Amino acid sequence: MKFLVTAGPTREFIDPVRYLSNRSSGRMGYAVASAALSRGHDVVLVSGPVSISPPDGVAFVDVVSARDMLEAVASRLSECDVLVMCAAVADWRPKAFSGMKLKKRGMSPVLELEPNPDILTEMRPLKNGKIYIGFAAETNDMLAEARGKLERKGLDMIVANDVTKPGAGFEVETNIVTFITADGAEPLPLMSKADVATRIVAWAEKKVLKA
Ligand code: PMT
Repeated sequence: MKFLVTAGPTREFIDPVRYLSNRSSGRMGYAVASAALSRGHDVVLVSGPVSISPPDGVAFVDVVSARDMLEAVASRLSECDVLVMCAAVADWRPKAFSGMKLKKRGMSPVLELEPNPDILTEMRPLKNGKIYIGFAAETNDMLAEARGKLERKGLDMIVANDVTKPGAGFEVETNIVTFITADGAEPLPLMSKADVATRIVAWAEKKVLKA
């Protein structure tokens, strides 16, 4: 099978030295890429800026902004059977980019934002029998919020993590996730991101076999 996996944060630049971003380290997405590789699948890994190295054997595409990531995913989607959107894509970007460093003097204390495209929503019309797996990083009402995303984004499964729990979510080596599909929710205990990734890949393999 062919996997297209996204990982890491995006950066939305304000000027050449400042940006909006988030805490994603890339660990969860890189673990999914490794798990798919170790099962013999082909993997394209589209990654925002992180400080870890991509696994040997992936086709690596590095991107910076949400719009770069959208372009990278859209141009490779037709080659893939399974899309796993683990990246923490910035929902908003500064409305204006200044080519020169903004000076404190004369700078407005209010930053105007505009929405970024939602990559999964943009990819929805191109699904054509592919498997789409999203992630949901939640801080409250995890199940309801994640179910809403599963439906709105037209996914086969969403992997929900409550990022307020110790050992879950951003930066750490472990995660506590719930697999949510149209059929129900399967909560998993605390485990390494490598083990979560192995379960995700196994789920996708089973889904393809059943199709
Ligand atoms: O990288 P780590 O430090 O290991 O941390 C892992 C993680 C916390 C980043 C990961 O487990 C995780 O939850 N990833 C998704 C983070 C996120 O952006 O969640 P969301 O609920 O905002 O987005 C829902 C889904 O829509 C995600 O699949 C996301 O990739 C996708 N999305 C979001 C915004 C956008 N503009 N386009 C999208 O496609």
